[in-house]
Amino acid sequence: MKHFLKETDFSIQEATDIFILAQKYKNDRGHNNPSVLNNESWALLFYKTSTRTRISFEVGINELGGHPLYLDKDTMQLSRGESVADTAKILSRYCHGLIIRTYDHKIVEEFASEGTITVVNALTDFLHPCQIFSDAFTLAEHWSEDSNIISLKDRKIVFIGDCNSNMANSWILGGHLFSMNVVLSGPETFAPGKEINDHLDKAGITNAYTFTTDIHEAIEDADVIYTDVWVSMGKENEEAIRTKKLSPYKVTLDHLNAAKKDALFMHCLPAHLEMEVSPDVYYNSKSVVFDQAENRLHMQKAILTSLAGSNKT
Ligand code: CP
Ligand code: NVA
Repeated sequence: MKHFLKETDFSIQEATDIFILAQKYKNDRGHNNPSVLNNESWALLFYKTSTRTRISFEVGINELGGHPLYLDKDTMQLSRGESVADTAKILSRYCHGLIIRTYDHKIVEEFASEGTITVVNALTDFLHPCQIFSDAFTLAEHWSEDSNIISLKDRKIVFIGDCNSNMANSWILGGHLFSMNVVLSGPETFAPGKEINDHLDKAGITNAYTFTTDIHEAIEDADVIYTDVWVSMGKENEEAIRTKKLSPYKVTLDHLNAAKKDALFMHCLPAHLEMEVSPDVYYNSKSVVFDQAENRLHMQKAILTSLAGSNKT
């Protein structure tokens, strides 16, 4: 049973095929492909709110001939103490796949090990791999004629802000998969944390990233400047301290101008203008935030096709 819980669950060869498929789906949006999921039911179990991830998966599953079932955790018996293990077993009796957005990454791992259907990570506190795949595709689209994954190699991506977050961790793992140069910059107390460092150690991955508190040093020669919210879902009670500590790391036009001449600005969204990014960067011609959001759909379809196919072989 193939799952997609972290970026490196796909090899670079599999990722290459997924990028080719995402491009094909994007070029051919007018045509649905109902034989891919062929009336399968795919559940979306969400413990947190979502706009892009939920909608792109629901639309994507429909376009591939499947049926999406949106399940709000708070309306499930999970919220009254039914176990993850039992819920995984029950959902496996009804559905063909399970897409989960939750807090602790161990929850998606438990769904994967206790159930008997494919599990896709739609964001945990640790990682957001579907986002990274569509962001990397967006970059490849800007850097090559045919969204060639090779165009990512050795490019410098600079992640600014909360470097101990799901998006930062995911860029570390995704950057490793795509052979990119990943540099992170934020306050020392927001440096990449134990969970990602332990994961890299265990996986035998070395030199996956560089961290510096010096934003100007980080930005030099950057091909991409990436930022994310300062207050991730679940961290709302830390808003005051996070805003105070992270405010020197707001991405401004000076930063964008100090990167490479043709550098791109990215944000996974939702964004908070005048917090992590100034409007003149967000709405700049170098900003590709809405391409990123659109590509979520094409990429979800490519990921689902790859997973559905590997389960049938
Ligand atoms: N970027 C992203 O995952 O957006 P949503 O939280 O709206 O799904
Ligand atoms: N780091 C953000 C990403 C949202 C897509 C969060 O977890 O809220």
